Amino acid sequence: MSALNKIARTLVSNRRGILAADESIGTMSSRLESVGVEATEENRRIYRELIVTTPRLSESVSGVILADETFHQKLSNGRTFPEYLDDLGILAGIKVDTGAKPLAGALEEKITEGLDGLRERVKEYVRLGGTFAKWRAVITIGDNVPSARAVRANVHALARYAGLCQEGGLVPIVEPEVLMDGSHSLAKCQEVTTAVLAELFEELDLLQVELDGIVLKPNMVVAGSSSPEQPTVAEVASATVETLRATVPASVPGIAFLSGGQKPEVATEHLGAMQHLDPLPWELTYSFGRALVGPALETWRGEESNRAAAQKALSDRAVANAAAR
Ligand code: 13P
Repeated sequence: MSALNKIARTLVSNRRGILAADESIGTMSSRLESVGVEATEENRRIYRELIVTTPRLSESVSGVILADETFHQKLSNGRTFPEYLDDLGILAGIKVDTGAKPLAGALEEKITEGLDGLRERVKEYVRLGGTFAKWRAVITIGDNVPSARAVRANVHALARYAGLCQEGGLVPIVEPEVLMDGSHSLAKCQEVTTAVLAELFEELDLLQVELDGIVLKPNMVVAGSSSPEQPTVAEVASATVETLRATVPASVPGIAFLSGGQKPEVATEHLGAMQHLDPLPWELTYSFGRALVGPALETWRGEESNRAAAQKALSDRAVANAAAR
């Protein structure tokens, strides 16, 4: 088993999943402000410390994805975040993309940037204790979109990122997110997700990315969030698994879903329903951000006296997702 394969399998096996706590400074700041907390570097650190010190986190979380700022910060006990996670038996991951920017000539669509200097940054993250990385591409469904050029540009960047990570010893989480925004149907989401994943795996193959050393992080196949017709849990589960079976080679060790704005309990129900659709060639787990930490942030609201209750809110979601697996 290669070192990359071992890390990828550790991330997705044993009823655990990945916690995405890698919101950019801008996104984390607005989430803090939305619960009345001033968006300072220290408050972002305090909030991330609350998350990773949640009791028994390692029973349901195999890896935590950190943002660059957090990766270099220390907990109150003097340990860096990667060191502290390692103490707990949790793998430390790092978001290495630098965000989705307007694609030239297609202003409503985005291309994720961050390839420049990535080879050197990967070396530095490995030196500081990183074992895996994340890059998120976003694909929008709308009138005449996604365009062929937006899909091609994004899967190409994902494949180049994945190759550079593997070369440097980090397992790449490959995240092509088809957004839930819009009023499109479940069938439309399935059509677009199938096309994006098919093109992604062609590109990964072309750039000689080792599929047994990645984790795929896709969206679930759902209807647009403003669609009047919302599918049942069973419909989402079967459309998602059908899409993955049609596109994802069995050599990929695991698929870890993003939550994408689904209500936390609903994302968990979808994950649970998919596990019954045997036989699945890959592990199916979670790599949720909002669906894991959203209730904790709402509970905390910056008050030290709410700390234990906020950690319980996170723990409850993590345990429910582990059980759903
Ligand atoms: P959500 O689960 O909140 O969609 O976030 C997952 C993630 O890491 C997005 O890149």
